[in-house]
Amino acid sequence: MHIPKYTRREFCFHSGQVVSLAAIASAITGCGGSSSTSATSTLPNLPTINSSVANGAITLTIDASSPLAATGSAALIATANGNFLVSRAGDQFTALTAVCTHEQCVVSTFSSGTYQCPCHGSQYSTNGSVIRGPASRSLTTFQTSYANPVLTIRV
Ligand code: FES
Repeated sequence: MHIPKYTRREFCFHSGQVVSLAAIASAITGCGGSSSTSATSTLPNLPTINSSVANGAITLTIDASSPLAATGSAALIATANGNFLVSRAGDQFTALTAVCTHEQCVVSTFSSGTYQCPCHGSQYSTNGSVIRGPASRSLTTFQTSYANPVLTIRV
């Protein structure tokens, strides 16, 4: 049986004929196109905390079982009034909108201080600033206060 050998360029061309660009982008790097516009997210999903907004605030108890128990952690806070990202550095908590400023997908993955949008790969730091596009605007921040063990987020 004859198995044709492809050059790298030919391989990329033929692969593009049978597999979606998004799948190729996640499997192969360097086949052209911009990684900043590919629909891939390589980071782990954030743990989700279901909560609610009452009197303009989200109130969370941060106990040992909370996804936010450890410094360096982050979570997606899901409420009927929207989704929020919360990260922890010591006893400092930073709350952001989880709505990507590119095309409003929910930013839902995180690793080592970087949030990533699953739709087109925009990345944000834990203070909401853009690390990688296509998003060009920072995520909105919300005021937080922490009185161990209660975290309050003003939204
Ligand atoms: S909606 Fe496009 S990167 Fe988030």
